[in-house]
Amino acid sequence: MPVPQGEHVHDQNPPISTTIPATSGPERPWWPDAVIYEVYIRSLADSDGDGTGDLQGVIDRLDHIQALGVNAVWITPFFPSPGHDHGYDVSDFRGIDPTFGDTETFRRLVADLHGRGMRLLVDVVPNHTSHEHPWFRAAIAEGRGGTEYRDYYLWSDPGPDGGPPNNWLANFGGSAWTWEPRSEQYYLHAYLPEQPDLNWRNPRVVEEWVDILAHWIDLGADGFRIDVAHNLLKHPDLPDNPVLEVAATEHVPAGRVRSARGLDRVYDVDQDEVVDLFARLRERLPRTHAGEEPFLLGETVLERPDRVERYLQAGRLDAAMWFGTDRVSFEAAEVARVLRTPGADTAGTFGWFLSNHDRARPASRLGSADRALALAAAVLAMPGPYLLYQGEELGMLDLEIDPHTARDPIARRAGELDVSRDRARSPIPWTDEPGRGFSTAEPWLAHGPLPEHGSAATQHGDVRSHLNRWRGLLSTWAGLRHQLPASASVDHDADLLTLTRGTLTVWVNFGGEAVPLKRPAGAEILWRSQPGGDPATLRAGEAVWLREPTRGT
Ligand code: GLC
Ligand code: MG
Repeated sequence: MPVPQGEHVHDQNPPISTTIPATSGPERPWWPDAVIYEVYIRSLADSDGDGTGDLQGVIDRLDHIQALGVNAVWITPFFPSPGHDHGYDVSDFRGIDPTFGDTETFRRLVADLHGRGMRLLVDVVPNHTSHEHPWFRAAIAEGRGGTEYRDYYLWSDPGPDGGPPNNWLANFGGSAWTWEPRSEQYYLHAYLPEQPDLNWRNPRVVEEWVDILAHWIDLGADGFRIDVAHNLLKHPDLPDNPVLEVAATEHVPAGRVRSARGLDRVYDVDQDEVVDLFARLRERLPRTHAGEEPFLLGETVLERPDRVERYLQAGRLDAAMWFGTDRVSFEAAEVARVLRTPGADTAGTFGWFLSNHDRARPASRLGSADRALALAAAVLAMPGPYLLYQGEELGMLDLEIDPHTARDPIARRAGELDVSRDRARSPIPWTDEPGRGFSTAEPWLAHGPLPEHGSAATQHGDVRSHLNRWRGLLSTWAGLRHQLPASASVDHDADLLTLTRGTLTVWVNFGGEAVPLKRPAGAEILWRSQPGGDPATLRAGEAVWLREPTRGT
């Protein structure tokens, strides 16, 4: 089948043939050890010169994405949105914002991906809508006691003191309740007031979502990334959350302003019964074009891995993000502690990642691109998909934020520049030119510093570049991943971390000194993060993949 080409195809990354099978065998689904590339659509590539990345821009860069050897692409929201949270405030779940393209562009993207043996995940936002969504407008128009759309949202009369009904806080600052003057009630929003939370205890909301997901499957989606999946249900009695000691708030994941970290979120997130919602949705979903069950990946921003495991019980989510490795420091003991395999009563796997559009860039956070790659080499080998965020393959660095460049509400409204998510959202530096080959116009968000190894074009032509080390890692992975058992063991001895999974052994030297690389007899070095080194030495901050000889063959 000829692959439709966009008008803006760049030739620095010629297409390569892929070893990834387009369909998986009947015995094993495609996703357990897949690599899923996260596209933050606004910042990948701008095809129409408006300064904002778009769907055609994604099509134009599929050669780069395919050459990495990834199995699927997850695209952040491209639905119509007033943009208060950069697309995570959706006003039409079935539409496409003209900034990003139209249904025709979406269909072409799907056809191109499928033609290249890659799958597509759509990022859906079921916890809330935009305040401009017709459902919310109708809920306000109906007022108190309304019977059509009022119950799509969560309303409450004032508390005894006339203020909000409880002490819940919004992730982006202030109370989680906003007063709606027409109906004289408060509505709940876990994020901005422009993002009212849906009432998932209302069966009609569930029905709406079955229909929305079926719509995208019909248009060719192979699965979904489910935004803040842990957030969908709240305790129906709306009790106050317990107040935390200040010290405890330091451990709460970012993506939330500091002032919102003071509560133990017992009642507004991760309710026991929320996991059953995914079983209810899954039962109702049609199969994908490839005849598969749609893959469901949840964003589960939880502190404890055992809480994440609940979402992975049979018939619920296929994979759930475990927010462990995105915040560890470069220390063997700490890394060993977060590399875990879900318990026996789970059917799904953790989704692993070092970064995404909400987190700091790992090359900045860990101190160098080399360290980020060494850590990734261990995390990738864990059972479960690896979510590779665009630019991580280039060793991109954090954008320095100032009040003029800031776009994220965490920076603009709450003033917390240092935890602004803008740092991870700067446009991809495709070339060394001033516009970096991203757009002919001023980009929507400033360019960050060039990665240590340069732009994508520079790195493409340099066999020792960060990009080519990633390509080498992922092509090694493609040849191995189908042969590995579903569990791994992780250990560490001082600064040396050892991960073993079947015949694969990963060593990472987290220390500041080189150590001897004691290769067992017959073991073969498959890949190392700092190429060209002495085969008998593991350098400071280096990772190596070894294959043990299989006995009896
Ligand atoms: C998720 C998204 C984040 C968004 C939030 C609210 O955490 O990744 O970007 O702001 O949900 O939808
Ligand atoms: Mg554009």
